[in-house]
Amino acid sequence: RKRILLDVDTGVDDAIAILYALLSPEMKVEGITTGYGNTTVEQATDNTLRVVQLANCGYEVPVAAGAEAPSVRPSRGTDAHIHGHNGIGDAVLPPSAQLPLKENAVEFIIRKAAENPGELTLVTTGRMTNLALALKKAPELARQLKQVVTMGGTLFAPGNVTPVAEANLYADPEAAAAVFASDVPLTIVGLDVTVPTRLTGADLEKLARYAPQHKQAIIRFLKESLGVYFEFYRKTNYFIEECPMHDALAVLVALNPSLVTTQKFNAVVDCSSGLTAGMIVTDRRPRPSMGRSVEFCVEVDSARAIRQMMSVFWSE
Ligand code: BDR
Ligand code: CA
Repeated sequence: RKRILLDVDTGVDDAIAILYALLSPEMKVEGITTGYGNTTVEQATDNTLRVVQLANCGYEVPVAAGAEAPSVRPSRGTDAHIHGHNGIGDAVLPPSAQLPLKENAVEFIIRKAAENPGELTLVTTGRMTNLALALKKAPELARQLKQVVTMGGTLFAPGNVTPVAEANLYADPEAAAAVFASDVPLTIVGLDVTVPTRLTGADLEKLARYAPQHKQAIIRFLKESLGVYFEFYRKTNYFIEECPMHDALAVLVALNPSLVTTQKFNAVVDCSSGLTAGMIVTDRRPRPSMGRSVEFCVEVDSARAIRQMMSVFWSE
């Protein structure tokens, strides 16, 4: 089983990423850390605990709360217009019996990686603040994590906050820049591959029809929470009755890299406050002098990714 840590800002698509990871028989989630982003860190933590309870995966999944705000710049506020007032599309889940750890997210990531050197893959689906803080506090973390897979940024596709920047990098460019500058093996699952990987209303109907009885509560949650998300994409004239599975794709790629093709480029993140704040700048000159080599997902077999994702929801 692939052993992973998740760092999330739960979030409609974060919730799906968490559910996929917990339901996948090929993964073991060693812990989930939370941060601000789509919603506040308190709400993201509460959402995460409720989603973990809903998944009922048969093993304990510790949850640790982390950053409340970006490293340097002021918070941009939450994304209620995309993810609903409670972050999970206003879907109502029962409160969890589990409490978050007393240990902070940053401490938790550092400890788990030190206890399992070379073993754990960290998948980040929110702002990169927790990871940047952890690397600052314990630089050896860069060698102890097997890999970091990050949903964030874009290379060739347009941004989703500015013409060139994606939300997770735009909200805390300094954190992203620090992770890009570190030695941690980094794979970027950006908008180039997440926007083409979309779940449709018809997919949801199929899930409702074919998922076994004991997974119907999960399917009801998916339908409820995705309503607001679909509505956002419809209102903004992007897609009708479909939405990108940004965060789930990062987990899918961590488990199955053959879903994507990748290219390595030297890269940095722009920390200016101008037009290109939060943009990934690659140095593709024959002799690059900026940044270090980062792996970027550039193409995806989105049909296969969606099928792989759906399979954990309809299997027995
Ligand atoms: C990313 O931003 C958040 O809204 C989503 O959860 C995803 O992590 C997409 O840009
Ligand atoms: Ca997210």
